[in-house]
Amino acid sequence: MNAPVPGAVPVIAIDGPTASGKGTIAQRVALALGFHYLDSGALYRLTALAALRAGVPTGDAARVASVAASLPVAFPEGRIELAGEDVGDAIRAEPISEAASIVAAHPAVRDALLDRQRAFREPPGLVSDGRDMGSVVFPDAVLKVFLTATAETRAERRYKQLMGKGLPANLQTILHDLRMRDARDSGRAVAPLQAGAPEAVLDSDDLTIEQVVSIVLERYRIAVRVQASGRSGGAGGSTLQD
Ligand code: CDP
Repeated sequence: MNAPVPGAVPVIAIDGPTASGKGTIAQRVALALGFHYLDSGALYRLTALAALRAGVPTGDAARVASVAASLPVAFPEGRIELAGEDVGDAIRAEPISEAASIVAAHPAVRDALLDRQRAFREPPGLVSDGRDMGSVVFPDAVLKVFLTATAETRAERRYKQLMGKGLPANLQTILHDLRMRDARDSGRAVAPLQAGAPEAVLDSDDLTIEQVVSIVLERYRIAVRVQASGRSGGAGGSTLQD
């Protein structure tokens, strides 16, 4: 089931913990290949925002799932809209990050968002980032990458990002929150964050964005060659070498 399906629209699945740079890398890889891009975390964030606005408690799985099933979202020209309102900044606010991680732990919410995510798989290809892109949503992805870095590196990147935007930031608080979210995302019963095959891991601690992008593109080229030569035989992206 996990082997890339020859002839299917190719998917590059980039999973990883919070602030690992998945979004930046996935967008640049998509741009380089002319592929579509899915920010699956945005759907969980949108669900959290819509639930909070509707007065639905994040712990109420059934009601949050019905919010997720009927989310009025659109992504015109890369913007993120909820019922026509641009919420690109609102969904990045820290309380929404926290709420997204809570609603994402409900199996019913994940189910409600599954088809919506798969609908992004359109020719000529898709780069998607999240926690379970390779394990659940696109198990036949031609390439699976688990992008990571130490908690300290990730906290520092997030800190610089916030400072760069002129937003208040405290490195110790960011590190603490990030560890909490790591624990919740990895420890949940459904679709937990997991590295998958060891070959999927891409440790970005000492790499620039450009270096990570070119490693992913190189892995993709190898994966496509392997698939074309019919030697991928059920390894689910784990046949890749650096
Ligand atoms: O930017 P960051 O990596 O912190 O978060 P995100 O990718 O926007 O995802 C927000 C939250 O949604 C995460 O904390 C996860 O709990 C959840 N999520 C998920 O469960 N599965 C995904 N495929 C994507 C996100």
